[in-house]
Amino acid sequence: MEKKLTIQDIIMMKRNGEKISMLTAYDVSFAGLLDSSGIDVILVGDSLGMVLLGYESTIPVTMEEMLHHCRAVKKGVNRAILVGDMPFMSYQVSASEAITNAGRFLKEAGCDAVKLEGGTEVCDTVKAIVRAGIPVMGHIGLTPQTASQLGGYKVQGKDAESARRLLESARALEAAGVFSMVLECIPAQLSQVISEAVAIPTIGIGAGRFCDGQVLVTHDMVGMFEKFVPTFVKKYANLAPQIKEAVAAYHKEVKAGDFPDEEQSFSMELDVSSLLENDKNN
Ligand code: KIV
Repeated sequence: MEKKLTIQDIIMMKRNGEKISMLTAYDVSFAGLLDSSGIDVILVGDSLGMVLLGYESTIPVTMEEMLHHCRAVKKGVNRAILVGDMPFMSYQVSASEAITNAGRFLKEAGCDAVKLEGGTEVCDTVKAIVRAGIPVMGHIGLTPQTASQLGGYKVQGKDAESARRLLESARALEAAGVFSMVLECIPAQLSQVISEAVAIPTIGIGAGRFCDGQVLVTHDMVGMFEKFVPTFVKKYANLAPQIKEAVAAYHKEVKAGDFPDEEQSFSMELDVSSLLENDKNN
């Protein structure tokens, strides 16, 4: 079994010029596939609200839903750092509630760290969670939990003022103690500036190639989630048509009585047809 990575290993990857790979998982099967393929960080993202639970956004996702999926993912992870995404309203009400909820990801689900969205406005909360001994990953740029405040799901930091605010947030988050941060949907030039300005790793999604690492939603990159695919996603596989083809073939064979055949059936020595004869005679 490969050695379990530590938070320090992730920080050192940036210092050593090694890019960091991160993907989402929501269950033990995918977690095992990702972990055994060498992915460095596995995120149980609140994107599970849309991808698995059919919600319209991440807003309705609850702590219990997140913990349920984190526990399942944990069972498939040996090497990667496991990060649990704090859902909307689990860290905004008060610092003490944020610490309690962040702690649940570690105590009840075995996560190594939590992620939460926001810039300068969440820094006091980040400080409190880190002070409690819980590693935190930041998340700035397009923050889906507050997408409506940002004018929808669109690229952030395109004008000088918002670019300056994002740089300020990145620096403030670093000072607050995050061990890394996601940069979502910002121009590549801005993510380069931010990545050079902070010593901790930046993990980009729709943020270009200058980030210290990259993250995608796994269901997007393997072509399993067809409802909406952002333009920054690269599909490394297109599984949805293959799954549909397999399901249609199964359906057809079941209807035709062709599945199962001898190969997928069990047999016995006893002549059980005699049981029916006995029944009839009694
Ligand atoms: O919820 C999620 O999957 C995320 C990633 C897209 C970074 O936050």
